[in-house]
Amino acid sequence: MSDLSFLFNPKQVAVIGASASPQKIGYAIVSNLIKSGYQGKICPINPKEKEILGLPCYPSIGKVEGQVDLAVISVPARLCLQVARECGEAGVKGAIVITAGFKEVGGEGLKLERELQAIGKKYNIRLVGPNCVGLMDTHTPLNASFATGFPEKGNISFISQSGAMVIAILDWSFQAGLGFSRFISLGNKSDLSEIDFIESCTADPNTKVILVYAEDVTDGEKFVQVCTEASKVKPIVILKSGTSTAGAQAASSHTGALAGSNRAYDTAFRQSGVLRADNMSDLFYLGRAFSTQPLPEGDRVAIITNSGGPAIIATDTIEKTGLKMARFSKATIDQMRENLPAESNIYNPIDVLGDARVDRFRFALQMAYEDENVDSVMVILSPTAVAEPEKTAQAILEYKDKYPHKPIFAVYMGGKTLVKGKEMLVKAGVPTFTFPESAVTALEGMVRYAEFRRANDAAPVLPPPNVDSNTVKATFYDVLKDKRVSLLAHESSKVLDAYGIPVNRTYLATSVEEACQISQKIGYPVVLKVSSPRIAHKTDVGGVEIGLHNRREVEKAYNRIMERVRRYLPDAPIYGIEVSKVVDDGVEVIIGMSRDIQFGPMIAFGLGGIYVNLLKDVSFRLASALNNRQAIEEMITETKAYTLLKGYRGQKPADIDALIDAIYRTARLVQDFEEITEMDINPLRVHTRGATGLDVKITINQM
Ligand code: ACO
Repeated sequence: MSDLSFLFNPKQVAVIGASASPQKIGYAIVSNLIKSGYQGKICPINPKEKEILGLPCYPSIGKVEGQVDLAVISVPARLCLQVARECGEAGVKGAIVITAGFKEVGGEGLKLERELQAIGKKYNIRLVGPNCVGLMDTHTPLNASFATGFPEKGNISFISQSGAMVIAILDWSFQAGLGFSRFISLGNKSDLSEIDFIESCTADPNTKVILVYAEDVTDGEKFVQVCTEASKVKPIVILKSGTSTAGAQAASSHTGALAGSNRAYDTAFRQSGVLRADNMSDLFYLGRAFSTQPLPEGDRVAIITNSGGPAIIATDTIEKTGLKMARFSKATIDQMRENLPAESNIYNPIDVLGDARVDRFRFALQMAYEDENVDSVMVILSPTAVAEPEKTAQAILEYKDKYPHKPIFAVYMGGKTLVKGKEMLVKAGVPTFTFPESAVTALEGMVRYAEFRRANDAAPVLPPPNVDSNTVKATFYDVLKDKRVSLLAHESSKVLDAYGIPVNRTYLATSVEEACQISQKIGYPVVLKVSSPRIAHKTDVGGVEIGLHNRREVEKAYNRIMERVRRYLPDAPIYGIEVSKVVDDGVEVIIGMSRDIQFGPMIAFGLGGIYVNLLKDVSFRLASALNNRQAIEEMITETKAYTLLKGYRGQKPADIDALIDAIYRTARLVQDFEEITEMDINPLRVHTRGATGLDVKITINQM
């Protein structure tokens, strides 16, 4: 792990391009450093000035005495390479390059950025940016940026690929009352990326939650690795913009068409314990919730309200998200029956009625907090004429302090009359919302993260499967030699078989006699299909004959297929006839794979057959995650296909162990052979004992 303390806690900072002109960025950076209360030495660098903002100025970085940990560079792009070299010669450890005009402008800018990168590497200078706003640490304190202002001290780190977002969020945070430990503007990520900063913020004792705004991820595999470890320590919430379906449109397999890069991000985030925010508000709602609340011990929520409508909305949202409305114990219900008006709802939500003053809220809080069937509490207050928003806020705060292990959320539904009460809550660290849906979203994020943490006692990894990789290698070699990228049925069945993935073996016959011998060997009834790289839809050209029960039928079918295909497509190369056994029992599922450019092979599982794309009953996992039984079981159980597999309407249950093994081996195959670009086993029939892959499509590319 890279230790970036020289960036966040430098002993000496140089500002190269420091200026005495208040309208220049080089002035703002020096001024920000001073105003932030930074305790180390600040060295403005400017060849023309003797002093800037009262600090002695140096003509170049080489003239500064002692170790410079951090240089903030704010000179025009054409001067940056020379300045970076000077930093290298002076032994600077880290540099924030504020300057724009690099990769983001393309052409010469891209060339310039590569040269900057090379200089960084040569001199071992870790680079932030270029094209960034800089970074801040409120605990050091250090403001090495040209943003306006310095955040309140807090425990949220915000890492952003957009500089504008850093500036805007910082400004918003003052009125939102949100405190930060770090603000980091990534810029073009020529060296340090979100991955390095997630690692660094994970190790930062002042950061409790990491929020990220990302447009892309630099290295998918490393991202998953780092986040999986980091999420075990603290929550990471990411707003990922710029999702595209381009990949999905280009895909030729079912799995590829269902996947797409957005899905890959979803899958990778989920797998590494990262929460994905849908929008900016959710990102910061979650940030505030994690920053102030303990993790809930479960998913059971108690709602206390003085108004029916908002509580119904909250209840609906809770149920939609899969959280649970807590069921109170008999003792709690009895006490409420005794102490609340007869018209109150004493079940969940607890409706203390429109005429409730603080005493009823206080009583209901006591009930909800003390009931062991409640994991978190949500108070929804509407400003009726008799409501006491501030006193109620005070009561909420008292209970929050008394029961620090149960999270509390407040929804103060209204505006003008609630300002003061809201302020009290926010200031004292209660996530406070205007509408219930946002509160539930934040709570749900906390519950899901807590589940991830609990489930994180690493499941035992499955032993490596016995496989015959030489056969796979040889098959791919032959296919590529034949100038093809798609495997024919007999080839893909050979590949699956080599990896122990259950498959209906298909054999290629080049004569009637051979077809009869194969049929005899595999057992009747059999299916015959024409084998040609040019015929995708075999049935359309009369290239398929099914249900053949004996030698005579096979002979006749063979000749009929040959005759029809030659008539319809006289120029198509025909490699022979594929022979396979008829298999028609079992639950039809799909196991597929598409390879994401960022995250590598992604496995899909779901209801199979011809309606896969219509039904979209598919779950996804990165192949790398499918190394333990628990992960594969989860993947299966979250689909509707699982209902069928368990034995729907009196059917016998299907062999789920065989399915788990098939998924495990498929994940192994696509990780071992990077040349597989797409793959579908559709359908895989899961029988009461065993499973059989019927139609297998594998596409490869030249490595
Ligand atoms: N060493 C030290 N100082 C030097 C050197 C040198 N080798 N060469 C020149 N300087 C001084 C200049 O003399 C000047 O000082 P002065 O005001 O005393 O004359 C100072 O460095 C700055 O140089 P200028 O030529 O005045 O450049 P300017 O400040 O106008 O612009 C900047 C530099 C800000 C880096 C500009 O090139 C730039 O990239 N602007 C865009 C920044 C940006 O948007 N970044 C992305 C952020 S993301 C977002 O905002 C959304």
